[in-house]
Parts: sequence; structure tokens; C-alpha cells
Amino acid sequence: MTSITGATITVGVIGDPVRHSLSPMLHNAAFAALGFDAVSAAYPVTAGDDAGRAAVEAMRTLGIRGLSVTMPHKEGVAAAADHRTAAVDALGAANCLVNDDGVITAHSTDGDGLLRSLQLESAVDVRGCEVVVIGAGGAARAVIDSLGRAGAAVAVINRSADRAAAAAALAGERGRVGAFADVSAADVVINATPIGMGSDPGTPIEPTLLRAGQVVVDLIYHPARTALLDAAVAAGAKAVNGLPMLLHQAAMQLELWTGVAAPVAAMRDVVAANFS
Ligand SMILES: NC(=O)c1ccc[n+]([C@@H]2O[C@H](COP(=O)([O-])OP(=O)(O)OC[C@H]3O[C@@H](n4cnc5c(N)ncnc54)[C@H](OP(=O)(O)O)[C@@H]3O)[C@@H](O)[C@H]2O)c1
Repeated sequence: MTSITGATITVGVIGDPVRHSLSPMLHNAAFAALGFDAVSAAYPVTAGDDAGRAAVEAMRTLGIRGLSVTMPHKEGVAAAADHRTAAVDALGAANCLVNDDGVITAHSTDGDGLLRSLQLESAVDVRGCEVVVIGAGGAARAVIDSLGRAGAAVAVINRSADRAAAAAALAGERGRVGAFADVSAADVVINATPIGMGSDPGTPIEPTLLRAGQVVVDLIYHPARTALLDAAVAAGAKAVNGLPMLLHQAAMQLELWTGVAAPVAAMRDVVAANFS
């Protein structure tokens, strides 16, 4: 790292917990590759009713240029920011803040990060595609919102029906509540549940529903190969894990803070070193 001086621009990530976050490594690698005098650090912000607002105020007071935002502060910072993008307004949650001379704008890069990763890394353009999203939590909602804006038709399958309907509505008239019977006909199938991770190694759908020619995306990135992705490969489908989304949502945050194209290759090296 270059030496930190009084002129060094500061960015960071807030969360509770936040020590595990890859954001500082990704963004510091990007700053180094760009030769920018900037540094990212992790700021633990304890969960609490007013924590998001306090973090926004601290950012303004301390002149921090940008923040990545992780759980449980995504809703709090969205409400406290001075401006919100259309996606943040729709989602009620943000994962990135930009400070322009004390004016804080809240952005959401998860959904667009996934779409950009599919386009750049897998040559998949979702416009006009039939997409099934399994799950209706924070990640699913961001992805559904972006899919709708990008012109995909989205069917949402979720354990809790009311949350499925609310999430599907984010895609407007392109969104609907789906069923497992929709999976085989879909062009793209996206798992946005934690099923397949850690203590829950199963699959969120019956593997027999998958078919050749589909793109199957698991937002999980640890493990890098889930049972769902194994099933996708066995069915002849294209299998994509959550690492490209992780990379590109961070790249888009860097671009919002700096206004220049992210050095994706340098950031990809960080991802590879941590999840090989
Ligand atoms: N690659 C990336 O950059 C990236 C970014 C963000 C998240 N993710 C991944 O995306 C996944 C979802 O994260 P999130 O933040 O959206 O979580 P979340 O807000 O807690 O939502 C989880 C969703 O999964 C459903 N679900 C959970 N356990 C289930 C089970 N046993 N059976 C059926 N459905 C179940 C929940 O259903 P209910 O609505 O019924 O509770 C909910 O819709 C995680 O694996 C996370 O690691 C990846």
C-alpha cells in the first residue's frame, strides 16, 4: 500500500459484523492498480435503531468519500441518505453510499452487479429472457428489481408466499409469483436463498427440473460449487456461482466513488486468492 497522508481519500465498509468483509481488500487492490491516493477500511457499526443514520452523519462529518454497506444497515442508510436512486427507493435498501461535499446519495449495486457479471463474464443478456428467482430476501429483491429494469420476465418462487408477491412486484408487470413447474421452461434460474451453504448443503429445487441450455446462477460464493451448480452441470446447463456478482457489485461501487472504470482484473485476483 502507498503511504497514507493527510490528503488520502478514505472509503470503507460498515456492518455488524464486518471483519469478514472482502470490500477493503477489493477496493484497496483497485486503488493500488489505479495509482489512486485512497484507502478503504472496515468500520464496525453496532446494530441499533439509529445506527444507519448515525453512520451517514459520521460519513458526512468525517468527509469519508464512500461506504459499502452490509447487514444490518442497508435499510437504515437508505432512509437516512439525502438522495436515493430509483432502485434504492424501490428496495428500501442500499449497499453503497457516495458523499459529494456532504450530500449523501444511496445506491444499490447488487442487482446490477449480477447483471453486469452475467453480461461480461458469461455473455448472458437477460433482456427478453424468462428468469426464475428462488428466494425473496434482500439479495433476491435487488436482483429482481434489476431484472425487471433490464427487460427480463421474472417468476419468483419463495417459501413465504407474501414475500414472494412483494418481491415479484419489484419487476412491475414483468414480475409474477412462480412455481417449481416454471423452472424447466426458464432461460435463467437464480438461487437467492442460502440453501447449499454451510449447514444446509441441499438444493433449493429438484435437480431434475434443470435442463441443457439453461443458465443456472447460485448467488452463494462459499462454497464456490454448490449441489445446485453440480446438478446444473450434470443437466448440461451453464453453472455460475456468486463470485462474479461479488466482484462486479464491488467494481460498480468503486466506479461510483472514483468516476473511472474499475480495474476488474486486479479485483478478480483478490477474489481468486480468497476463494480458490
Ligand atoms: N454473490 C453475492 O455478491 C451475494 C450478495 C448478497 C447475497 N448473496 C447470497 O444470497 C443468499 C441470500 O442472501 P439474502 O441476504 O437475500 O438473505 P435473506 O434476506 O435472509 O433472504 C433469504 C431468502 O431465502 C429464503 N430461505 C432461507 N432459508 C430457506 C430454506 N431453508 N428453505 C426455503 N427458503 C429459504 C428466505 O425465505 P423466506 O422469505 O420464507 O424467509 C428468503 O427469501 C445468501 O446465500 C447470500 O450469501 C450473495
